[in-house]
Amino acid sequence: MRRKLIVGNWKMHGDIHSNQVLLNKLIEGLHDLNDADYVVCVPNPYLSQARDLLHKTNIAWGGQNVNQHEQGAFTGAVAPHMLTDFGCSYVLLGHSERRSIFHETNLTASARFEAAINAGLTPIFCVGETLAEHDAGLTEVIVASQMDAVMATLDENEFALAIKLNMVFAYEPVWAIGSGKTASPEHAQIVHHFMRNRIAKRNQDAAKKVRILYGGSLKAKNAEDLFSMPDVDGGLVGGASLLADEFIAICRIANKYEQT
Ligand code: 13P
Repeated sequence: MRRKLIVGNWKMHGDIHSNQVLLNKLIEGLHDLNDADYVVCVPNPYLSQARDLLHKTNIAWGGQNVNQHEQGAFTGAVAPHMLTDFGCSYVLLGHSERRSIFHETNLTASARFEAAINAGLTPIFCVGETLAEHDAGLTEVIVASQMDAVMATLDENEFALAIKLNMVFAYEPVWAIGSGKTASPEHAQIVHHFMRNRIAKRNQDAAKKVRILYGGSLKAKNAEDLFSMPDVDGGLVGGASLLADEFIAICRIANKYEQT
């Protein structure tokens, strides 16, 4: 079994005071957990705060997006080295909110993936279908197109680099995000297995190693059933990552699974 990974996506929440309270609770609540990995993806202005508080802990931090360019006239954008300058090891990419609200596409998300790995960041690439696509039976078609965009963008050297950086994928059905409706463990397993097969088409060893997270109304009460599925390697947590006790409880569940 792959080592579990829990990632909190704070989205556009928090302020300097509430972050400090939350991060201090996480440091305290997670410090004795050694059998899984923990990450918080905070809004960019708080990266230095995350670095200052987390740098000697077992909690890593990351950004919620990155631009594909190294520098230039891209007002409001953040380059990959700007995240690594603040000690980020991870970055979320292709989140459905980026796709639907900010019009990012498979093409731009894949270009960002490429730029992220070239800067040494571990990408967490999000895929998932909308409710209409789900109801039309298009889940695998959509997920395949999102996965294949990344696979097609990376050349052999970049693919090797992505493996070395332990690239992560996340299945986040759009209909489950913030809705209180969680995918059933069986549905998540089918899609995660499908995603792993998609990676295996490119490289079988990589497919065995890559962690695939589930996201979408993940809470402490449903984490155990989801994490028990063989292809669910942890979670990408939105709302519940803002509640210290809830996030710690999810991390504690992940920590119970032994790596083999
Ligand atoms: P919720 O956990 O709030 O449903 O959000 C999931 C998500 O979008 C994480 O990236």
